[in-house]
Amino acid sequence: MNRRKFLKTTGVSAASLGVAASWPTILRARRPADLISVAVMGVNSRGAALVDGFAAASDCVVRTICDVDSRAMERAVSNLVKGGYTRPEGDDDVRRVLEDPSIDALVVAAPDHWHAPVALMALQAGKHVYLEKPCSHSPAEGELLVSAQAHYGHIIQMGNQQRSAPESIEAITRIREGLIGRPYFGRAWYANSRGPIGNGQVADVPEWLNYEMWQGPAPRTAYRDNVVHYNWHWFKRWGTGEICNNGTHEIDICRWALGVDTPTRVLSTGGRFHFDDDWEFYDTQLASFEFGSDKQIVWDGRSCNGYPIYDRGRGAAIHGTEGTVIMDRAGYLAYDLGGKEIARRMRGESDAALDVRGGGDLTDLHIHNFLETVRGRATLNAPIDDARKSQLLCHLGNIAQDTGRALEIDSETGRIHDRQAMQQWSRDYALGWEMNL
Ligand SMILES: NC(=O)c1ccc[n+]([C@@H]2O[C@H](COP(=O)([O-])OP(=O)(O)OC[C@H]3O[C@@H](n4cnc5c(N)ncnc54)[C@H](O)[C@@H]3O)[C@@H](O)[C@H]2O)c1
Repeated sequence: MNRRKFLKTTGVSAASLGVAASWPTILRARRPADLISVAVMGVNSRGAALVDGFAAASDCVVRTICDVDSRAMERAVSNLVKGGYTRPEGDDDVRRVLEDPSIDALVVAAPDHWHAPVALMALQAGKHVYLEKPCSHSPAEGELLVSAQAHYGHIIQMGNQQRSAPESIEAITRIREGLIGRPYFGRAWYANSRGPIGNGQVADVPEWLNYEMWQGPAPRTAYRDNVVHYNWHWFKRWGTGEICNNGTHEIDICRWALGVDTPTRVLSTGGRFHFDDDWEFYDTQLASFEFGSDKQIVWDGRSCNGYPIYDRGRGAAIHGTEGTVIMDRAGYLAYDLGGKEIARRMRGESDAALDVRGGGDLTDLHIHNFLETVRGRATLNAPIDDARKSQLLCHLGNIAQDTGRALEIDSETGRIHDRQAMQQWSRDYALGWEMNL
């Protein structure tokens, strides 16, 4: 029973037990080998949910909060103290954090341009990594992380938490057993009603922000007032667009369900249709991934008009020769070709309202899977060598959209038979921040 469940079950508060500061000490004394110390990097939104999850997990201590926004860092530190946990260290420089030998794992929920570079730095410092999606900013970074993981030996779990959902695991098992015949078509979708981001102006860096470290591996540019926080998702220098932001989750589910790895052809159409502002990616996108001549995944992304598909803001539909499975974070439903329900396992309501923090049970299960793998008692549900394949699809979707061409792909390497498109295989780094194995 973990700490949160214990407190919930007994109905007593940490303060009334008088264990606030000493809980990790108790755990350490009981099972020293199992105690895992983590540092969490980036705690404004998703990272705050991860802090909650890691702090509440059995035999796990959040030892350091790392953020370049002093307000976010202080909020995360004080939330832990209020929750009855030991006060963590606070630091705005992840390089210092990685020098701390007492940290076993780095949890990364900083913006996308940081993901692969800091994951590599963490492996080189001998840490395990829980790495939020997207695991890479470019296809090259995904390749590099797989090599680095094999070289340095520590583990990387990508934060696509639906891989740890018991309902999804069951649905995939049943699809493999023939529930819908031979699965051949997957439709991944996400629909939200995001507002405009306006046209930013160059501005003074706020006193609460270490902008130099916020930029980190990204080429330097002046601070603008419509980027930090969250809006960076829609700028190519830092973000990766909706297909890598939310598409990663459901495209990964489709790839898992169809049992495919690398596509042979990728097409995309769409644009920034809803607003006229600084947003550099697409708010509307239809991307298609063909796997040989008999399997296909389609991504249907709508960032600014949240009208749901199959009553869900997000999900995956898997079609086969004998039926269809609709899957989302709450469970799955299966129908035969006549539309009759043939299977169902739903935990609650479907996720029509979209929680941008992505907290909840699935995240807790994914964290548990990560920690148990670090302890040698489980295998990862989203290891980097597999997660990288789903991420590659998303990157290829962006490249197909940018080039406006059908991309022919080498099904062994994932590389594109198109010199111009291959220019987007990797990205630029600030001097001194290049990724080197
Ligand atoms: N798995 C999920 O369900 C899920 C949900 C939401 C977000 N995410 C992912 O989590 C990441 C963060 O998303 P968000 O919405 O919280 O973004 P955000 O912009 O709200 O927060 C990012 C935080 O990282 C901090 N940061 C930036 N550079 C840093 C550095 N060098 N060191 C330490 N902290 C730094 C920022 O100050 C900020 O507090 C994204 O990559 C996103 O794709 C995953």
